[in-house]
Amino acid sequence: MSDSREILVTSALPYANGPLHLGHMVEYIQTDIWVRFQRLRGHRCIYVCASDAHGTPIMLKARQDGITPEALIREVHAGQVEDFAGFLVSFDNYHSTHSDENRALVEEIFAALEAGGHIETRAIRQSYDEQEQMFLPDRFVRGTCPRCGAADQYGDSCEVCGATYRPSELVDPVSVLSGTRPVERESEHLFFKLGNFEPLLKSWMAEGRLHDSMRNKLEEWFEAGLQDWDISRDAPYFGFEIPGRPGKYFYVWLDAPIGYIASFRHLCDRQPELDFDAWWRPGGDKELYHFIGKDIVYFHSLFWPAVLHGAGFRMPSAVFAHGFLTVNGEKMSKSRGTFIRASTWLEHLDPEALRYYYATKLGPGPEDIDLNLDDFVQRVNSDLVGKLVNIASRCAGFIHRVADGRLAAELPEPELQAALAAAGPEIAEHFEQRRYNQAMRQVMALADRVNQYIDREKPWVMAKEAGREREVQAACTQGLNGFRSLVTYLKPVLPRLAAAAEAFLRCPPLQWDDAGRPLLDHAIGPFEALMQRVDPKAVQALLDASRDSLEKKPAPARVAAPAGTEEGPAEIAIDDFLKVDLRVARIVEADYVDGADKLLKLTLDLGDSQRQVFSGIRSAYRAEDLPGRLTVVVANLKPRQMRFGLSEGMVLAASGDGGIFLLAPDAGAEPGMRVT
Ligand code: 2FM
Ligand code: ZN
Repeated sequence: MSDSREILVTSALPYANGPLHLGHMVEYIQTDIWVRFQRLRGHRCIYVCASDAHGTPIMLKARQDGITPEALIREVHAGQVEDFAGFLVSFDNYHSTHSDENRALVEEIFAALEAGGHIETRAIRQSYDEQEQMFLPDRFVRGTCPRCGAADQYGDSCEVCGATYRPSELVDPVSVLSGTRPVERESEHLFFKLGNFEPLLKSWMAEGRLHDSMRNKLEEWFEAGLQDWDISRDAPYFGFEIPGRPGKYFYVWLDAPIGYIASFRHLCDRQPELDFDAWWRPGGDKELYHFIGKDIVYFHSLFWPAVLHGAGFRMPSAVFAHGFLTVNGEKMSKSRGTFIRASTWLEHLDPEALRYYYATKLGPGPEDIDLNLDDFVQRVNSDLVGKLVNIASRCAGFIHRVADGRLAAELPEPELQAALAAAGPEIAEHFEQRRYNQAMRQVMALADRVNQYIDREKPWVMAKEAGREREVQAACTQGLNGFRSLVTYLKPVLPRLAAAAEAFLRCPPLQWDDAGRPLLDHAIGPFEALMQRVDPKAVQALLDASRDSLEKKPAPARVAAPAGTEEGPAEIAIDDFLKVDLRVARIVEADYVDGADKLLKLTLDLGDSQRQVFSGIRSAYRAEDLPGRLTVVVANLKPRQMRFGLSEGMVLAASGDGGIFLLAPDAGAEPGMRVT
């Protein structure tokens, strides 16, 4: 093993406005496995996090609940702490961004950025709710899409056609707070001049800090030009007031990542041997990694490194982004019961079963993962109960029966144990590179070998024959040592099972290298079931408990069409209709769009040419399911430059409360055919 490393790891801070669900848990489980792996290898690995406590949604949720924001975030924080403990997430510290440490750090960082010439003040116009007397975040304005006419769209983008715009561009905008029409009002805001850091960010990125897919994204953002970032908000706001600027608050996204540092500082106060500067100032040999979801890459790979550097802090060693979770192949849904809270899972099922299942699915990149509940039951029962625990349950009883609970002094088939040990470096590399799916496959292939050995030796047959006690003891010693090695490799994923195995084997806490050091001539304890089979009835009970009883009736679907009035598109003459060049198109490629959770990027074949179109169908379709499908596209729509690239048309879809449905011609249609 390499020399001991000193590593600081974070997961994204969950908002303190609601309970954690299984989508959140992907990240905390992914991070925790990595952290536990590093510790198992003998490295010092500190894992900090916090609840993300500021911002308009939290302020309004508290108001709606009739409590103070402080009371809301305290209550949610306590629930999060419980859920994380339930899922065995091993934070060294779980703090809050609404803390003295964070306030002091935010003020320090802002002062340094200002002194460095990285802050600019200028007036902007924004939607303002006169009744509520507050500026409205884009998401708090709804109205009719100026491009396609879809009703009830957010103030920043249309879920139907994917257009992005300003709230004031909506047809008939309405404040979701008061139902009144917002006005435009001017206000002074503070901007962080991200462009000052372009050369720095480019060289930081070139040093291999990001997965390839993220690097490509960043290159696109560089090409589009780095925009100044608005880091202030007007009162009323729940956050930190900016010193010397009454009525102005730091935007939640400025103080949230600073919460990583604040949580570490809070830990330092309780562990005085931790040297804050050695971990957070530039030039040391410590490592810093952020685990995040793919939707917040922009914040973590542009703003955050720039803010850190601009304020005299170190930059991250790397940022790792994962994908989203689907359940049974679809977005989590309250009506299907697949919007599952972490706490509901813990009431019905084993947290380690989910940890293992996620591990079998997780790779190093931002691909989405699916929790298929039938597959989950089958995989956990087959791998963990049928293969892993089965080894111990088949061997332990015989050791007690024929050898008074003592393992043999040597192994009958040392090559098998050597093979298990030899796999260690490769499995370790899989963990290190976050290829947990490959690590799990390799460990289970080794479990198959150990089971094959036991099947071949048949200790249960030997045990019936007098005088073969030593052979039985030897075979079961071999089996149990195989089990011990496998448990060692799985310990980052299954820490509770590993602790139970250590107790049963009466061995000190396993370290990574123990996988290659057999336990011989050693007394073990009585075997107790280390893991229960997952009962499909418990899964059904989980879904029932999660299902929202108030299923909404779907509203009638409407087809996206050019802008009209609130009642629907205005009447047009046939000549108007014929101006629209509708064509059959084949979807050649479909990709997720970082930073846009409503959009898919589609590459369309129109027979004689290819187009790129951004479409707001992400909530209804998985990118991987679309290539090959035919659809209908508005081919002569003026191309529109979006933040993510150029959109050269619009695909047609029906939409309503029942979902979004792509239009498609009958079989036989060919790309390029005119639709009339
Ligand atoms: O997207 C989110 O859920 C944010 N609360 C993540 C913040 S991560 C970090 F920047 F603090
Ligand atoms: Zn639209």
